[in-house]
Order: sequence, then C-alpha cells, then structure tokens
Amino acid sequence: MKAVVLVGGFGTRLRPLTVTTPKQMLPVVDRPMIEYVVSTLKRAGVSEVVLALGYKEDLFRAAYPDAECGGVSLSYAVEPEPLDTAGAVRFAADAAGLDEPFIVVNGDVLTDFDIGSLWDRHHALGAMATIALTRVEDPSRFGVVPTDAEGRVLGFIEKPSRDEAPTDWINAGIYVLEPEILERIASGRRVSIEREVFPEIVAERGLWAVHSDAYWIDIGTPATYMHAQLDLIDGVRGAALPAESPEASVDADAEVERSVVMAAATVAGGAVVRDSIIMGGAVIAADALVDGSIVGPRARVGEGAKITGMSILGDGQNVGAGQLVDGLKIPMSD
Ligand code: GDD
Ligand code: MG
Repeated sequence: MKAVVLVGGFGTRLRPLTVTTPKQMLPVVDRPMIEYVVSTLKRAGVSEVVLALGYKEDLFRAAYPDAECGGVSLSYAVEPEPLDTAGAVRFAADAAGLDEPFIVVNGDVLTDFDIGSLWDRHHALGAMATIALTRVEDPSRFGVVPTDAEGRVLGFIEKPSRDEAPTDWINAGIYVLEPEILERIASGRRVSIEREVFPEIVAERGLWAVHSDAYWIDIGTPATYMHAQLDLIDGVRGAALPAESPEASVDADAEVERSVVMAAATVAGGAVVRDSIIMGGAVIAADALVDGSIVGPRARVGEGAKITGMSILGDGQNVGAGQLVDGLKIPMSD
C-alpha cells in the first residue's frame, strides 16, 4: 500500500509557531507530528509514503535525509507553488508514478482509526473514492458529509455555517482513491479536493464513507495542538507518554501540573506550569506562571511573569520579568 500525505500548507492558524517550523514538523510531546501520521499508516500496512510538500519543504528533507521514517520509505514531491489539496495529490501521484488505488491523508490528523478497514471497504464496494468520517461537536470548521444508511455520500459541504451543517459527521481527512480520479484533477493549478473533486464524485454517486468513533483530532489550531498532547500524557490513547523529557530540567520547587516539558527546557523554582506546553529549550524563570498556554522553542518567560489564556510565544521570544500576557500571540501576526 502506498500513501500520499499532504504536508504543504502554511499552518497559518498555528502562527507564530509555524513561522519557523512547518506544522507537521512541530513536536507533539516527544517527536514531530509527521512521525505519528507515518506510524499510523505503517500499522495499516503502508510501506511507501509520498510527502506532498510546499511550505518549508527543506525541513522535512533535513529531518529524514535517508528518505526513511520509522521503517517506511519516503519520497518527496515539492510543488512549485501551492496547488491546494487535490492539485497536491495529483502532483504527488504523478511524481511517484502511482497507478493503483492509494491512500491520502491530511498530515495534521492524529487518529487511531483503522485505515486497513477503509481500504477493505473501498475494494468491497468498488467505489471511486472512500473516505473516513468522524463526529465532532462543531462541524462548521470541517468538510460536512451526509450519507445514506449504507454509507453512500449524499453531499460534501466544506466549512458550512454552523446552522447549515446537515450532520455532525465530518471528513476525517483519510481517503482511498482510485487512480482514475487523477485524470479529473487539472494539473498545474490550484484544485481543492473538498470543494471541487468530492462534490463532482458525489453527483456521480461514486463517493462512499466509513463512519468511525475512533480517537481523532485535527491539530491545526493552538487549542487542538495542545489538546492532542495533553491526551497523550493523560493516557487517553493507551499507555501515557512521559510528560517531562528526560532532557528537561525542572526545579524541585517548581510546580508542573498536566503539562508537557520538552527537551532542554528549564523550569525554575517557584514557577507554576499548568495545562501548558513548554517547548524545547524554553526557559521559565523563578515564580513565573504559565497556564493554558504554549511557550515556543527557546522562548523565555521572565521572573514572576504570567502567561495565560491560550497565549503562544514564538521561537526565541522573550517576556520580561513581571509582565502579564493573556490570550496573546507573540509576536503578533494576522
Ligand atoms: N502539498 C500541499 N499543498 N498540501 C496542502 C496544501 C497545498 O496547497 N494546502 C493544504 N495542504 C495540507 C495541509 O498541510 C494539511 O496537512 C492538509 O493539507 C489539510 O489542510 P488544512 O489547512 O489542515 O485543512 P483543514 O483542517 O482546514 O480542513 C481539512 O481537514 C479537515 C479534517 O482535518 C479538510 O479536508 C476538511 O474537509 C476536513 O474535515
Ligand atoms: Mg487541518
């Protein structure tokens, strides 16, 4: 089995963290996001992954110079300009010479969904495309997908307003596609799989879906990027991962509660860190408070400063002693 993983987006919602690191290379507890995605694919039997790259593609190549990740061989397809989700699939499939059914996943989805069962269902149905669905509270941020009782897709509505969503089942960003789909995707221009390709296939009654209640989260926003990590240290997905890196240094008089402290980060005595992510090499000085926030790599929170309310400090940012930062992204971005 071969898979295309879409990792070329700008990660705008995760700025300022994505100013220096592409979204799927951001660490999730102890390793880059992409490694979770690749290992989920490997478990399903995938042996080759094509990374559909754009923004900061060099950081992926630098991380996996042997074109291998966790026992799966990688190839790289770098778009000359962003081609959007379907354009990227076409470009990557052409580059890798895919001519049999293949898997596509959004590179920012962490899930325990059984991709092998999607593959089997796709083949049993003889569908043109088969997609995984998950259920969420607010479907308006996603592709909303009503089906009939057998799982035939009746509509595909990308990011409708909240009261226009006909169901709370949404596109989980995991697909099995027949290679014939590639022919209907124009090459060399932006094409959205969600807004153009899927609605077309729905009209031909060729799109099918598998509903799943397995663990699923899209970690493309600050809140979900944090949530996914707290789930991993809380043991929501099986054995809990250690919250503090063995290479972090947390003073015995610091209070760290339900937070991730990554490698080479330092938390000084008297500091309180709660429901937060302290990234690699960050420094939390004495008596500072970090609550429900993300302190980016090498950022520094000065003595007695307070970082609260889903604030995000970007790479190397410095908050001076005693300063209050509540619900802000530093540096500010649009
Ligand atoms: N190569 C490439 N080129 N990749 C891209 C491009 C592009 O032009 N644009 C986006 N991507 C990648 C992103 O990096 C991400 O991994 C994936 O495609 C999806 O893009 P997002 O920006 O994260 O989309 P979304 O989360 O708003 O919505 C999508 O995912 C939802 C589920 O997580 C849609 O597929 C929704 O329908 C879906 O419900
Ligand atoms: Mg996303």
